[in-house]
Amino acid sequence: MSKRKAKKTHMTVGACISQVQTILRERFCHQMLPEKPVGMESQYKHLLELLKRTAVHGESNSVLIVGPRGSGKTMLLKCVLRELLEVTEVKKNVLQVHLHGLLQTDDRIALKEITRQLNLENVVGDKVFGSFAENLAFLLEALKKGDRSNSRPVFFILDEFDLFAHHKNQTLLYNLLDVSQSAQAPIAVIGLTCRLDVLELLEKRVKSRFSHRQIQLLSSLSFGKYLDNVISQLGLPQDFPDTKFSEEWNDSIKRLCEDKAVMAVLQKQYNSSKDFRSLHMLLILTLSQVSVSNPSIKPADLLEASRVCGADSKANMLHGLSILELCLIIAMKHLNDIYDGEPFNFQMVYNEFKKFLQRKSHSIYNFDKPVIMKAFEHLQQLELIRSMEGSTANIQKDYQLMKLMLDHNQVMECLQKYPQCPTDVKQWAMSAFG
Ligand SMILES: Nc1ncnc2c1ncn2[C@@H]1O[C@H](COP(=O)(O)OP(=O)(O)OP(=O)(O)O)[C@@H](O)[C@H]1O
Ligand SMILES: [Mg+2]
Repeated sequence: MSKRKAKKTHMTVGACISQVQTILRERFCHQMLPEKPVGMESQYKHLLELLKRTAVHGESNSVLIVGPRGSGKTMLLKCVLRELLEVTEVKKNVLQVHLHGLLQTDDRIALKEITRQLNLENVVGDKVFGSFAENLAFLLEALKKGDRSNSRPVFFILDEFDLFAHHKNQTLLYNLLDVSQSAQAPIAVIGLTCRLDVLELLEKRVKSRFSHRQIQLLSSLSFGKYLDNVISQLGLPQDFPDTKFSEEWNDSIKRLCEDKAVMAVLQKQYNSSKDFRSLHMLLILTLSQVSVSNPSIKPADLLEASRVCGADSKANMLHGLSILELCLIIAMKHLNDIYDGEPFNFQMVYNEFKKFLQRKSHSIYNFDKPVIMKAFEHLQQLELIRSMEGSTANIQKDYQLMKLMLDHNQVMECLQKYPQCPTDVKQWAMSAFG
């Protein structure tokens, strides 16, 4: 008996690892809802109360959930709906209409979608309506004729809310918000957006019908809390089949997060963005290094993942540059090396480039100065170099102080991968004195 039990809880490392992969992938990639959203308790309560008022008491309402990308707007709403719908009465009664600014690109499509989601296609049939408002009113009226005498509450969820503001005359927004203000039918209009200035986009008549309730998701997570999150995100749940393995795993995660290099990586990540989406990105890349031969996460795995995550688009942009532009970047890199990152001007870059050309007896890089200037300007447009002076500064172009927005390693790394980079250019880049 005890033997059988031991067999059941002891799995091979391979089986454990595949189980770990499944659980964590689900968590990072499939947008599984957390038990409770972390660090947004007050927002959660606020939204829950608000929607409860519509679902239970039949009050109409409107609210905007505002926060940057990946801050958890969709997740917050889903969690609240999950709790709300646990009540059978509410679940039976409430209707939901989900619209998305990228899908319902005009109000006609939106109205069709509303009709479809409310299962009213048959009721509407071939009816022709005079106006949008009439049509919407008809739909809401049709909902009343159920087995209940009063109307069923409807949640209108508008993801990418700001995009609806671009629809002609903002008809949909106007009508939905108008219904939410009058006592026609109990509806809640819930908008999700990452535009903090979304109210500015609304026409006056639309804006005045909005309740001006906003739920902001601006993360104020401390680094300590962030670390705790990382630990809990990577942790295995209590009900993991092999207890011994999961305990060891969880301990190893704790130790991992005490490592100096790991802390530095996480601090960097935290400083650049605290949101879960970018954290998940980092963790999924870390997780991909875990295998039977490497059954726990090592600091090096996280460092590697962070390197891949941080493979910056700027450095990648270098691959699209012309040889001349690349040469200028190398000249600037040399200037940076020589002058310790002090700003430079075009003239200095030009001289540095000329020095390189003079060392060669036959040069295929025989460009006129204006051509070189043009290339230099292109680099500025690409924001690979940036002017140190304000754009208003009245200084001759050649002498404007500039800074290279790439560091030594970025340039060198890119050169290794640059397609068909001439050897002499490569050598020049590698030489210590320019
Ligand atoms: N506070 C949190 N606790 C747990 N998980 C979170 C939290 N915030 C965000 N997440 C997770 O981060 C991911 C991104 O969140 P979500 O999709 O809700 O962002 P969003 O604000 O809707 O972004 P977008 O503007 O791109 O639609 C999801 O997998 C979500 O589960
Ligand atoms: Mg979202």
